[in-house]
Amino acid sequence: MHLSQLDMSYPITILTLFPEMFPGTLAHSIMKKAAEKELWNLTVINIRDFAEGNYKRVDDTPYGGGAGMVMKADVVAKAIRAAKKNQPNAPVIFMTPSGTPFKQAKAVELSKNKAGVILLCGHYEGIDERVLETEVDMEISIGDYVLSGGEIAAQVVVDAIIRNIQGVLGNDNTLSEESFDEDENGQKLLEYPHYTRPETWEGLEVPEVLRSGHHDNIKKWRKQKSLEKTKKVRPDILE
Ligand code: ADE
Repeated sequence: MHLSQLDMSYPITILTLFPEMFPGTLAHSIMKKAAEKELWNLTVINIRDFAEGNYKRVDDTPYGGGAGMVMKADVVAKAIRAAKKNQPNAPVIFMTPSGTPFKQAKAVELSKNKAGVILLCGHYEGIDERVLETEVDMEISIGDYVLSGGEIAAQVVVDAIIRNIQGVLGNDNTLSEESFDEDENGQKLLEYPHYTRPETWEGLEVPEVLRSGHHDNIKKWRKQKSLEKTKKVRPDILE
């Protein structure tokens, strides 16, 4: 390990009403190994711990009427401020379907900020707008669909960030050719198809060029396949 990595355990704090949903998927596979190597660390804060009174009320009915409940500004603000004590320079990110669509470029950008991230998971109809205005830096959506809460979205965002941290993936080259990476012309492309043994499976052969050992041709073929795939399934990212 490089010396520069020794002080770099990327800190993540999750604010949630359902702390038992964590670490969830983040306790497995690559994320697990990376946490064991202390390349990242997770703190989970239960928002309910900041509620007051015998009932520990975290939500209330919405002004103006309508369905569902709204998470209270005072409770959420206290939870955020507690997280900021440990990570004063980390951006506070609210997970919401009405946020900015999450992209690979944002995952890479966040992975470079050693202050880490504080992720706020909502439930019910939403969170009092005043706390979003005063305490939240960014709102992120993982896609155009509505989940029951921000917890699954937060795990998606954490995984996408952490795998960009140096030392997380065994081979640093693994990162260099993936979907959404830019080619030499700055064009984002989806990944080319992969094959492994056997050479023939159920009558289907591995493309000849991949068995040729001709590296230039392999590179050209992969580029062509990436382009075809992108045109077919994601014409919106082609420039
Ligand atoms: N919470 C509920 N739906 C969500 C989404 N699509 N992205 C992020 N957070 C969410």
